[in-house]
Amino acid sequence: MLNKKKHIFIIGMMGSGKTTLASILSKTLKIPYIDTDQDLSSILGLEITEIFNSLSEKKFRMLESVYFLEHIKNNQHIYATGGGTILEQNNRSAMKKEGKTILLQTSPQELFNRLINDKKNKRPYFEENKNEQYLSELWSNRKKYYIECADYIVKTDKKEPFEIANEIIKNLK
Ligand code: S3P
Repeated sequence: MLNKKKHIFIIGMMGSGKTTLASILSKTLKIPYIDTDQDLSSILGLEITEIFNSLSEKKFRMLESVYFLEHIKNNQHIYATGGGTILEQNNRSAMKKEGKTILLQTSPQELFNRLINDKKNKRPYFEENKNEQYLSELWSNRKKYYIECADYIVKTDKKEPFEIANEIIKNLK
C-alpha cells in the first residue's frame, strides 16, 4: 500500500516511456507529476545536451542530484526521472527512503526503435551512438543500479501505456 506522503519514482533507460507513464499515473491517481529533465532544463534555461556539452556529464550528474534531492522534500509527486538518476548513490538511497520505485524494463531493440523516431528530445551519447549495441551495453552497465532501486519491475515491450499503468496501479494498491 502506498503511504500518502510517499513519492512514486519511475526509473528506466532513456526511451522506456517514463514521462508518458508518469503523466497517465498522475491523471489516474490524482498526484502531480514532474519530469525531472524537463524541469531542470527549464530552471537552467539550457537543453540537457547543452549542459552535457558546455559543462560536462559529471557536472550534469551533480546538478541533477542536487535538484532531485531538493525537489523530493516537497509534497507527494510522481517523478519521471532521468535515465541516469540511479547512477548516484545518494539518489538511490533517497528513492529507497522516500517512496516506491517502479522500473520500466524495455529491450534495447524497442528502446532503439523509439529513440530513433523521437525527433523532439536529443539524448547526449545516443546522438553519437545511434545503434542498439550502445543501448545494450548501457543497460548491462546500469542494470545493477536499476534493480537495486526497484520495488517493482514492469516489462514494457509490446504493451500499451495504459496496460503498463494498470499493472503499476495494481501493484501500488
Ligand atoms: C540520460 C538520460 C536522459 C537525460 C540525460 C542522460 C542517461 O533522460 O537525463 O540525457 O544518462 O541515461 P531520459 O531517460 O529521460 O531520456
